[in-house]
Amino acid sequence: MHDPQTMPRPPRPTPVPSVQRNQLVLPVPERPAHEALAEARGWLDGIHERMMAAEDEVLHQDMHSLHLGLLTLRRRWSEEDWKSFCTDTARKHPLRSFVHQCPFTRRAFERPRGYAGDAALIDYLYMDRAADELHAGREVYRYMHQQPSAVSVRERRELLARALDATAERVPQNARILSVACGHLREAESSAAVRERRVQELIAFDQDPLSLAEISHHQPLDVVRPHCGSVRALLAGKATFADLDFVYSAGLYDYLSASVATRLTGLLFGMLRSGGRLLVANFARFPPETGYMEAFMDWWLTYREEDEMRALLGEVPLEQLDSVRLFRDSQDNVIYLELTRR
Ligand SMILES: C[S@@+](CC[C@H](N)C(=O)[O-])C[C@H]1O[C@@H](n2cnc3c(N)ncnc32)[C@H](O)[C@@H]1O
Repeated sequence: MHDPQTMPRPPRPTPVPSVQRNQLVLPVPERPAHEALAEARGWLDGIHERMMAAEDEVLHQDMHSLHLGLLTLRRRWSEEDWKSFCTDTARKHPLRSFVHQCPFTRRAFERPRGYAGDAALIDYLYMDRAADELHAGREVYRYMHQQPSAVSVRERRELLARALDATAERVPQNARILSVACGHLREAESSAAVRERRVQELIAFDQDPLSLAEISHHQPLDVVRPHCGSVRALLAGKATFADLDFVYSAGLYDYLSASVATRLTGLLFGMLRSGGRLLVANFARFPPETGYMEAFMDWWLTYREEDEMRALLGEVPLEQLDSVRLFRDSQDNVIYLELTRR
């Protein structure tokens, strides 16, 4: 249940302007409701004070209140008001430095590789590095590590590892696989088929040479072939692949516009050979961490529901489509779209 002491009251709804004979009567007060913002700031002050003094368990409770409260504000405010709250209030509040003691939160915000959601950030969810941190950073990180989205990211890795193994069973010895935006390709580390070299080729495609270098340290390079390239290069036909048995992409579509995602889906489907499978993952709206991610991590994803995932079929030739499957993970957070080619 929501604790009234720790939840900000919802902002007042912005009055709807009324039009009288060509005359626009502006609502008063102009958005965003000043008092609502002041109230939200006061609420952050309270959480910050308690967190500074908190024991581990209390700190987790305050993180919980923070997540719930931010999600509530995000739902109730207009997109514009929410964005200005994130930039003008949350990010300037001393609570930001406090939660940035968590290396996962801080890395998302700082973007040391120049883009959001790099593979080293996702490693904070795959691995547990809590032991390396001091008190507050450790507890904020621990909290984040246990959240439903983090569980979904780990589950996604396992699902992909099983899909690699299943492809090797379906196409013994000859399977050719492409991972688009592979990051550190951590799923391959849990795949017996890759470890035992029962796939012919796993092309690890990513724009980030640092991520590909990390793969080279962990994977058998006679099977895993790093390939540096961007979605833009794929769409422009500068990087092309064909005759693949399995193509997948996780942690990429969450950053793509509908038009780019639709074009990419059509293109990747066209790289499959008969019987081949395309699997793409996307976060559904809205995981409970969304408000915290946007306000304190500056991490904005494109969330999609089932109908938006289905719309990605827009450039897939339907006569070549054997099956379409949509399913969610155990947390209801990630939607998977799976296509098989005739
Ligand atoms: C969130 S990570 C996901 C990594 C991995 N697939 C996983 O599930 O753990 C996103 C990856 O997408 C890559 N990426 C983002 N935009 C890209 C683009 N336009 N072209 C190629 N790779 C891209 C990044 O370099 C990063 O490694």
